[in-house]
Amino acid sequence: MLKNGETWYDTEGNTIHAHGGYIINYEGFYYWYGEDRRDNIYVSCYRSKDLKTWEFRNHVLTTNSPTEGFRIKTHLNLTRPNSEGSEVLKVNIERPKVLYNEKTKKFVMWAHYENGVDYHRAAIAIASCDKPDGDFVYHGYINPYGYMSRDCTLFKDDNGDAYFISSSRDNEDMQVYRLAEDYMNVDEHVRTLFQSELREAPAVFKKDGKYFILTSWCTGWAPNQGTYAYSDKIDGRYSINENFGDENTFFSQPAFVLPVEREGVTKYLYFGDRWGGSKEAYFTSTYIVLEIRFDKNGMPYIEYDEKAAL
Ligand code: DGJ
Repeated sequence: MLKNGETWYDTEGNTIHAHGGYIINYEGFYYWYGEDRRDNIYVSCYRSKDLKTWEFRNHVLTTNSPTEGFRIKTHLNLTRPNSEGSEVLKVNIERPKVLYNEKTKKFVMWAHYENGVDYHRAAIAIASCDKPDGDFVYHGYINPYGYMSRDCTLFKDDNGDAYFISSSRDNEDMQVYRLAEDYMNVDEHVRTLFQSELREAPAVFKKDGKYFILTSWCTGWAPNQGTYAYSDKIDGRYSINENFGDENTFFSQPAFVLPVEREGVTKYLYFGDRWGGSKEAYFTSTYIVLEIRFDKNGMPYIEYDEKAAL
């Protein structure tokens, strides 16, 4: 049994490092991508058939990842120079999300990019791969239409349209963009959300035609009160933010929401990061997974359970 907030191990007995992550379902497997800050790694990928047993697959993005310029004009460095000018220091890649594009048959990753020194670069890194767990090719980073972009997520709608949502203007607001058909760039900025509400850690899901967006407030690595807002259209007018979970979201910050079919019913699983709150403690960060329940008005809530809802 996987317990919330405990260290989880892969099938080789190694700690699972997939923080700020995302899960997709592809050809009978769940693929879990997330931050892995060890050594020269940026993003690791694990897979599972049952969400309980996780097999390590690959360090899919590292300082040595192949690079290829693609449409966007950008730098292709996944390192930064040390004081002697050698490109050996790491940049920051956070909250990686991956979608499968049915048309191009590619797996496309979007992640928060920082220069490794501070959080002022605030951009989006894009990478892609022919396989879910292969070596992703890095295509550089952008600021879509000039916006800052920090905590972020991807959401694929039922018709295949995909959206990228991220915190902008020093986290004051959040932007929603529809992606290009191949998911390799933004196509259109479609909405600005939460003017001056300082929300981050977005996680989006759709239930009964409503789009829900979970977010946290901005308190660094420390947890705070999570909220949800909803809309009938992803680019429509959203409700005000209502509380989700307790005053520290059960010591977690949203990573993503995974819809799963169980006994013919779609369940929505809230994955939260329980961050170790310092540079060293980061590596002791864990996860919680709780089933999202819905009240009589169809509004989401979670209750704490020490057993992960997997
Ligand atoms: C909160 C964000 O949600 C995390 O992804 C990370 O960027 C920390 N802030 C850094 O303080």
